[in-house]
Amino acid sequence: MNDFQYKEQELWCEQASVRAIAEKVGTPFYLYSYRTLKNHFHVFDQAFAEIPHIICFAVKSSSNIGILRIFVAEGGGVDIVSGGELYRAMQAGVDPRKVVYSGVGKRLDEIEYALKANILMFNVESFQELTEINACAQRLGKKAGIALRVNPDVDPQTHPYISTGLKENKFGVNIEKAIEAYREARKMPYLDIKGVSCHIGSQVTKISPFVDALNRLKKLVYLLREEGTNIRYLDLGGGLGITYKEEQPPHPTEYAKAIIDASKDMNCTFILEPGRVIVGNAGILVTKVLYTKTNEEKNFVIVDAGMNDLIRPSLYNSYHQIQPVVIKKRKTVLADIVGPICESGDYLAKDRNIPEFERGELMAVMSAGAYGFTMSSNYNSRPRVAEVLVKGDRSYVIRRREMYSDIVKGEKIPIFLKV
Ligand code: LLP
Repeated sequence: MNDFQYKEQELWCEQASVRAIAEKVGTPFYLYSYRTLKNHFHVFDQAFAEIPHIICFAVKSSSNIGILRIFVAEGGGVDIVSGGELYRAMQAGVDPRKVVYSGVGKRLDEIEYALKANILMFNVESFQELTEINACAQRLGKKAGIALRVNPDVDPQTHPYISTGLKENKFGVNIEKAIEAYREARKMPYLDIKGVSCHIGSQVTKISPFVDALNRLKKLVYLLREEGTNIRYLDLGGGLGITYKEEQPPHPTEYAKAIIDASKDMNCTFILEPGRVIVGNAGILVTKVLYTKTNEEKNFVIVDAGMNDLIRPSLYNSYHQIQPVVIKKRKTVLADIVGPICESGDYLAKDRNIPEFERGELMAVMSAGAYGFTMSSNYNSRPRVAEVLVKGDRSYVIRRREMYSDIVKGEKIPIFLKV
């Protein structure tokens, strides 16, 4: 299902005209469809209906509290990687017993915050972290739920920057080390060992790496149980890919079926941490063409959104489809779509065959709902853009465009420099 469709030559999000929203909020802005978000979550959740499970949405992929609220209202939990993400999730009303905390570098204050909030469990990534959590729980007179994040050493066959389950990555501990770490953890009285976790990478478009990882974890779970550790949760992380261009990732129901089939009789509650597959194709970035120019080599379309607003093309050379918001008869040209940032790496598309855009026209950058706004910055002192959610024919600003005063908020001229 796609809630971004052309009607009478114009792009609509559900029953709202993208052009009309742009006139109201200005450009650039991120635009999300409520119906798509809710539907994607629902389909993913339903795919696991046969087995006990919690869908812990990966906050890093799209963290606006208005969006988190949609998943929380559907009964979802969250996967967080910082105190800030926990704060957001709490603002969205998440049930703390559905919060898992991942990440290699949890600070003490963050551990404390999460313990006080009574989250379900920490996905622990090192031996030192185990001792830190145990000591912190002791101080607070609590028991900390934990799982060890195991690195199953499978190749997710995705972009090297976003693959995390291979030996050479910084994430998790290898299976042999994990067995030792669980033995040590059993001796720590303030830890409640709840599960085993892993996350193999992102934008994975095949099922086999997930099943390979699961099979490796399964052996570990049985071994730990033999040793007397009561493993109740199996966290398989996120990572299911989406179609940006021609990728053909498995549908969530196929993915779930493979996992369900491979995990018969495991007697665990499964935790899934999807991000991209829920939000990626539920959001777009709308930008305006400022200028066009041509030199001896190339055609350039200069737009008002830059790499600070959507960094994925610059960082991973990733592909986002480019579409005009209003369709007209025109020729196709080969061009670079670039932003206003003072860096040659600032582009949204390179050497792309696109319809010839004119000054002032609106452009939609598709599949921008995941790792779009959340990776944006104020580089070049550009205010971060607005985020808008559409439901039916209504649109809601869920984050107002930043103002110049937001940019210097918190900054101070030291007294010795004051005139
Ligand atoms: N769980 C953990 C522990 C993760 O590290 C991640 C993503 C997820 C879940 C969610 O993965 P997803 O379902 O969204 O693939 N910035 C990159 C993606 C980085 C992913 C990092 N970890 C991008 O724009 O492609």
